[in-house]
Amino acid sequence: MRSLQCKPLHPVFAAEVEGIDLRAALDGSLAAEVEAAMDEFAVLVFRDQILDESQQMAFTRTLGPIDMGLLKVLQTKSRFKEAGMIDISNVDLDSQVRERDDPKLVAMLANQLWHSDSSFKQPAAKYSLLLACIVTDHGGETEFADMRAAFDALPDANVAEIEGLIAEHSAFHSRMQLDDAQYTEADLALYPPVQWPIVREHPGSKRKTLYIGVHAQRIVDRPVPEGRLLLAELLEHATQREFVYRHHWRPGDLVIWDNRAVLHRGRRYDLSQRRELRRSTVEDIKH
Ligand code: OGA
Ligand code: MN
Repeated sequence: MRSLQCKPLHPVFAAEVEGIDLRAALDGSLAAEVEAAMDEFAVLVFRDQILDESQQMAFTRTLGPIDMGLLKVLQTKSRFKEAGMIDISNVDLDSQVRERDDPKLVAMLANQLWHSDSSFKQPAAKYSLLLACIVTDHGGETEFADMRAAFDALPDANVAEIEGLIAEHSAFHSRMQLDDAQYTEADLALYPPVQWPIVREHPGSKRKTLYIGVHAQRIVDRPVPEGRLLLAELLEHATQREFVYRHHWRPGDLVIWDNRAVLHRGRRYDLSQRRELRRSTVEDIKH
């Protein structure tokens, strides 16, 4: 099998894939190679991709079933015709830049906290594919942190302490942290919390990973404050600069990341500037 030409972007993970037009891969011909490269690099950047909505969704489907994320609450109406396409933009249904107090824009701000997509549901997300259409001149980068490297760097005593611990993840915890309390009881009921081990083995690479991020709201069988402090300490460890790749977007960039292996966050930008990306997501297997 021809393997992808990958140019590393960071000492521990992330690579740019060169010489590929993903429009030629809608038939699934690259799926196995992408998966193999994802197992190694966890973040792949494809530059200059000209994919319309349906092509992005078709390519995504070659990698597995579509994850619907938080669409039931956040995106009841959409600019997109593809049901699973997630609007990562600051514009409304008429393509006008939203006011900064627009509830949909406020809800999106939680993307600027370290997280793993859909870790608040079962199944969670495997891959996210984010395509940049319009980007800002300054800010608005996306950062990724390698949870395999972060695990490897944990002192043995910490590993012994956290192996076997279970965290509870909720879709609304990150939003509550930002004092975004626009959610109804019905919203909360649509996404009840789920539990995941903090330490997991990645099925592709067999490497151990930390599965944490701002959706994790407590540790099972621990007082909430104690659990939160542990989660905060692990997050601080795991997002040190040596484990972080920062992606500066250009229009046409398609970035794929493995939510089982990395955390990510958006960076602040001037909300009055138009920023339009769209995300399709592959669901993980049910655990
Ligand atoms: C996402 C996300 C961050 C960003 O699309 O899942 O968290 O930079 N995006 O927009
Ligand atoms: Mn995200």
